[in-house]
Amino acid sequence: MTKQFVDHVRLSDDERRLVILDQTLLPNSRTYIELDTAEEMYEAIKSLRVRGAPALGIFAGFAMYVLSLGYEKSVFMDRFRQDAEYLCSSRPTAVNLSRALKRMTAAAEKSGGDLTALRRECQAILDEDIAMCTAISRYGLSLLKDGSTVLTHCNAGPIATSRYGTAIGPVIMAAERGMHVGAYCDETRPLLQGARLTAWELMNAGVDVTLICDNMSASVMAQGKIDICFVGCDRVAANGDTANKIGTSLVAIAAKHYGIPFYVLGPTSSIDLDCRSGRDIVIEQRDGEEISKLWYSRPMAPEGVRCYNPAFDVTDSSLISGIITEKGICRPPYDESLRSLFR
Ligand code: MRU
Repeated sequence: MTKQFVDHVRLSDDERRLVILDQTLLPNSRTYIELDTAEEMYEAIKSLRVRGAPALGIFAGFAMYVLSLGYEKSVFMDRFRQDAEYLCSSRPTAVNLSRALKRMTAAAEKSGGDLTALRRECQAILDEDIAMCTAISRYGLSLLKDGSTVLTHCNAGPIATSRYGTAIGPVIMAAERGMHVGAYCDETRPLLQGARLTAWELMNAGVDVTLICDNMSASVMAQGKIDICFVGCDRVAANGDTANKIGTSLVAIAAKHYGIPFYVLGPTSSIDLDCRSGRDIVIEQRDGEEISKLWYSRPMAPEGVRCYNPAFDVTDSSLISGIITEKGICRPPYDESLRSLFR
């Protein structure tokens, strides 16, 4: 029987609004919300109601289509560019957001604001992501055996993408095929994407998953519980340096120490050859209260303490065993292998 998939970022039935699964309510409530203004869309990205690099690209495509339905012909391109720039300013690190907004702007310019062309373009962004995530998951699966255990960080599953996801796509695909592949997932402080989202997705997929705190990954590696690490990515620089959720580089450093292969999984839409290295990647800074107060009924840090809350870090390419894309597995030297993907 063919598995039925639900699109967590999609158009409403009348195609006039954007519908998203509100990820901030998971795992306690599976609620879909509808958006039709640029302000609501900006807020949804900023507050991580929609998140995950590929999902942000899909969201941006549908968002620009919905917004363009309300533009007057005489000011169409001005309004289009203004809203695209506004949405782009919501979060800086994941390249998929700015890339999809540029792609929709180019389609609007080329077609002279033709709504049919824009509808086609946003659908193409979703369809391409489905194909890419499925291919990435197959390549990742080729590295797993029956009985393997994967460690992952943050959330790079179906809700962060279109279908299987990237980093946990191979694990979900393995479960579908009746293989026994286990997973450990880090909580991922401060926003708990691992605990709230990855653990939920893997349990729904019937995967044997164990949740650990972020500071436990070296310990489970030392105990021989982990065979391989799979993480997603928000932007991969030309030299292979990879921005992903804060804490990813700690997992990579520990994996190197314990001789455990560490793979980054992501579509080519997350590779940015314009960034020569990780130093060119802008890291989003978020409100310190996400650390001190957000999940607690009482503050868990002294009032007024300075908090430093970068949302991402950059894993040095020397720590990465391979970068798994829809076109295959890139190996070092990444300057060459990543560039060859675009030839
Ligand atoms: O702040 P987030 O939750 O948007 O961060 C997401 C990640 O770091 C993911 O690992 C990345 O976007 C890949 S999603 C396939």
